[in-house]
Parts: sequence; structure tokens; C-alpha cells
Amino acid sequence: MDVAVEVEDLWFTYPGSTEPTLRGINLRIERGSFTIIAGPSGCGKTTLCRCFNGLIPHFYGGTLRGRVLVNGIDVASRSTHELAREVGMVFQEPEDQLICLSVEREIAFGPENLGLPTEEVKSRVEEALKALRIEHLRDKAPFELSGGEQQKVAIAAALALKPSVLVLDEPTSNLDPVSALELTKALIELNEEGLTVILVEHRLDLVARYADQVVLMDRGAVLVQGDPREALSSEEALRLGVAVPKPIRLFKQLLVHGVKLARPPLTSEELAEGLVEFLGRHRG
Ligand SMILES: Nc1ncnc2c1ncn2[C@@H]1O[C@H](COP(=O)(O)OP(=O)(O)O)[C@@H](O)[C@H]1O
Ligand SMILES: [Mg+2]
Repeated sequence: MDVAVEVEDLWFTYPGSTEPTLRGINLRIERGSFTIIAGPSGCGKTTLCRCFNGLIPHFYGGTLRGRVLVNGIDVASRSTHELAREVGMVFQEPEDQLICLSVEREIAFGPENLGLPTEEVKSRVEEALKALRIEHLRDKAPFELSGGEQQKVAIAAALALKPSVLVLDEPTSNLDPVSALELTKALIELNEEGLTVILVEHRLDLVARYADQVVLMDRGAVLVQGDPREALSSEEALRLGVAVPKPIRLFKQLLVHGVKLARPPLTSEELAEGLVEFLGRHRG
């Protein structure tokens, strides 16, 4: 099994804090997989993301125990500059991460800083524009764009460094539903092409069906890691107030009425199939 990211008994305390924010996290993320991380506000999701690309410990300082390995590399042993080639990062606020005067310049910025030849920079910019279908935005200034377009530019800029892992921290939380759906579709496509995607997200109705695994966090710890159907129908998901997809909520209500479907459904299609199968079993 090929592991892209491995977190081993990770503890982290921010400088000046008396309590650890991350408490003994263990995670395995397979290459090419789609992982969703969810959990209540303040549970440490953003802090964990900062560990994936070395912002913790290199930028934030603090006390770190345990290890984070990306493609077998211990993030504590490499500079954030080097790690940017392994892990791309996209944050909640697109405007905070866009600094250049045009979209094209924005995407070229990273590869240029790597000292790549002009031709290579150019071809990477084209590739990234194409992957996100934003060729038409190339000459626009990032501040002229909508939130959804800005997030696509942020993703394209991350991809231009050709990382094998893309981490996105609530990228849709400031987007309208249509833009959120579009961004989600772009992520699914990138994942289907082989990119390992780690997504912190609370709109699970939209993405849970595409996930290979769901990680539920609470108070700096991982409570559940596994199959999306199992994780989202767990007691923990309910207790943490995770926005469980509607079909799973219906599945649970049906259970109360003695209707036990073969498995928790993530989509309305799966729910319908489960019901038909149940009725077939119980007819006559
Ligand atoms: N730069 C920081 N310095 C000190 N404490 C921080 C910092 N960033 C986050 N925290 C604290 O760490 C905890 C987890 O925060 P965060 O990782 O942002 O959670 P989430 O993303 O799940 O909402 C919170 O108690 C928060 O106040
Ligand atoms: Mg956060």
C-alpha cells in the first residue's frame, strides 16, 4: 500500500499556550485518495493542515512531538520552501493568498521561485489554467474575481508546483452554493487524475459521496477514521454535530421505524436503491 501522508502520535502546543492543540493524532492517507476532515470549530483542523506542509513547526514555532511524513519525508526536517513541492495548500480566505497583479503572474510565482526555466514555468502555468478551466481569467487581477474564481486561482497556483498532495482548509466556506459545487467538481476531477486530496469541509452533503475516507476530529484528537458511510453514521458524528448528509439522517430515522437498509446511503440514489432492496426482501 502506498502511503502519501502518515501522522504518528502527533502532539502540538502553540507558543504561549499551556494546553496542546493536537493530542496524539495518528493518520494514514493513501496515495491518490480523497480524505475529508470534519469536526467542530476549534477542534484543530486548521492546525493539523499547517502540520502537513511544515508551517508547523517552521513558521508557528511551538512544541511538536511525534512525526508527520509526506511521501516519506519528515516535514520537520525540510524547509517549507522544499515542502511546497510535495504539498499544495489552499486556505479559507482566497484573498489572503493571492498577491500578484494578474492570474497568470500569480500561478507563475511559485515555479519562478523554484528557479525553473522560463519555458517550464510557462507550460506549468498553461497546464494549471487548463486543469481548473480558468484560461479566460489569465489577464485579470485576482481582486477583480469572484470568491469561487479566486479559490480556483489559489488551487491552480498550488498545482503549478506539481505537488502530489493538495490540502484545502474549508475552501468553500465563503462561496455561494453554485460556486461551492463547481469547486468541488474541480477537486473531484483532480483526484480522479491521481492527486491525493485532503479536504477540511463541513458541507458534507456535497462531497462525502466522493471521499475514500472521513476523519472526524474533536478537541485535538481523531475520533473516527474510515469509510465515509461508517464514519458519518457513527455515534461520534451525531455527538459532534457534524453536518451528516441527509440520506444518512433518513437512514437513521428509518431504523427507528424498523426499516434496516443494507448500508448507510450517501446519496438519494443509494437511499432509493436500499429501500427497493429492503421492500423486495420483505414482500410477502
Ligand atoms: N496561531 C495560533 N496561536 C495560538 N493558538 C492558536 C493559533 N491558531 C489556532 N489556535 C488555537 O488552536 C485551537 C484549534 O484551532 P484551529 O486549528 O483553528 O481549529 P479548527 O480549524 O478546527 O476550527 C483553538 O483553540 C485555537 O484558538
Ligand atoms: Mg479552521
